[in-house]
Amino acid sequence: MRALTVRPERPDSVEVRDVPDPVAGPGELLVEAVALGVCGTDREIISGAYGWAPQGRERLVLGHESLGRVRRAPEGTDFTAGDLVVGVVRRPDPAPCGACARGEFDMCRNGRYTERGIKERDGYGSELWTVETDYAVRLEPALESAGVLMEPTTVVVKAWEQIERVGQRSWFAPQRVLVTGAGPIGLLGALLGTQRGLDVHVLDVVADGPKPAAVAALGATYHHAPVSEVAEKIQPDVVLEATGVGRVVLDVIAGTAPYGIVCLTGVSSAGRRIPIDAGATNRDLVLENDVVIGSVNANLRHYTAAAQALAAADRNWLELLISRRVPLNRYADAVRPEPDDIKVVLTFE
Ligand code: BGC
Repeated sequence: MRALTVRPERPDSVEVRDVPDPVAGPGELLVEAVALGVCGTDREIISGAYGWAPQGRERLVLGHESLGRVRRAPEGTDFTAGDLVVGVVRRPDPAPCGACARGEFDMCRNGRYTERGIKERDGYGSELWTVETDYAVRLEPALESAGVLMEPTTVVVKAWEQIERVGQRSWFAPQRVLVTGAGPIGLLGALLGTQRGLDVHVLDVVADGPKPAAVAALGATYHHAPVSEVAEKIQPDVVLEATGVGRVVLDVIAGTAPYGIVCLTGVSSAGRRIPIDAGATNRDLVLENDVVIGSVNANLRHYTAAAQALAAADRNWLELLISRRVPLNRYADAVRPEPDDIKVVLTFE
C-alpha cells in the first residue's frame, strides 16, 4: 500500500512510498483511509524542525488528522465494517504519569507520551491503517465529507473545556469572545463559541476571501484591524489565541476584560524576541484576576464531545473550511500553502 512517509529532522525527505499492509492485532480495527488533514505540525515535520520516527526506524508515516472506514472489526466490539472512524492522536507512555494513568494523556507530565504521525508512532497517512478500538471514535455517516475536521475540533473542544474550568473558579458569565487567527483552529473555535451562544469576534490579517465569509456565515463578526485596537473595543471575556504569533499573544494578554481568560493554542517557533512592558503586563494580570493558559492535544472525552459538535454543525459551513482536496500522490501540492487555504485535505481514492 502507499503511505506518506518522512525522515524526521531531515528537511524535505517526505515522499509517498510503498510499505507493507498493516495487520490488525487483537482489539484493533483495520481501516481504509478516506481523508487526511494537513496542518502546520505536518509542515514543521516536513521541514525537519519537529517529529520523531518510531524506535529503531528511520522513517515515520505522517498524518494525525484521520478519517477512515472500518474494513474489519474484532467481534464483540462496538464497531462494524463500514463505520466511519477517526483515530486518536496521543497514547500515554508505557509507565504512565498520574495524568496519563487517569486517561488525561493530553495533560502528560513527563513528556514520554507518543503521538501518531508525530512522535514515535506511525500516523494515519496510509491507504490502510490500524487502530486500537479504545482509541477509535465513530462519526455519524453524514460526516463522510467533513469528518476529517474532527482532530482539530478535538483540540478546540479541549481548549474550551479548559477555559470553562478556569472560569468556574469564581462567578463566570462570559459574553464576548475574541478568536485570533481564522485558520481551522480559530474557525472551529469560533464555531464552538457560537454553539455556546456567545458573541464571537474573529480577527485575522486577510481582508477578503473565504475567511471573512466563513465568519459571517457563523453569525460572528470578522475583524482585520490591529489586535490591540479590536481588543480595546470589544473587551473580550475570553480570548482563544490560534496564531502563535508573539506580538498577537502579548496584545491579547493586555487586552482582556477583567477576569479575562486567554487560551493559547498556537505552537510557535522559538528565537523571536520582541520588547515587552513586563511591569504593565504583570500589573494588568494581577489587578484583573486574569489567567493565561496553554492547551494542547485532546483526550477521549474531547473526541466524544467533538463528534457531537461536528454533528450539530451546519455541514455546508464545515465544507467551507476545506479549501482543497488533493489526491495522495500530489502530496507536494497539498503541503504547499496557497493564499486562500483554510484546511487542505489529502484523499485516498
Ligand atoms: C496536534 C496535537 C499534538 C500537537 C503536538 C498538533 O498539531 O493537533 O494533537 O499534540 O500537534 O505534537
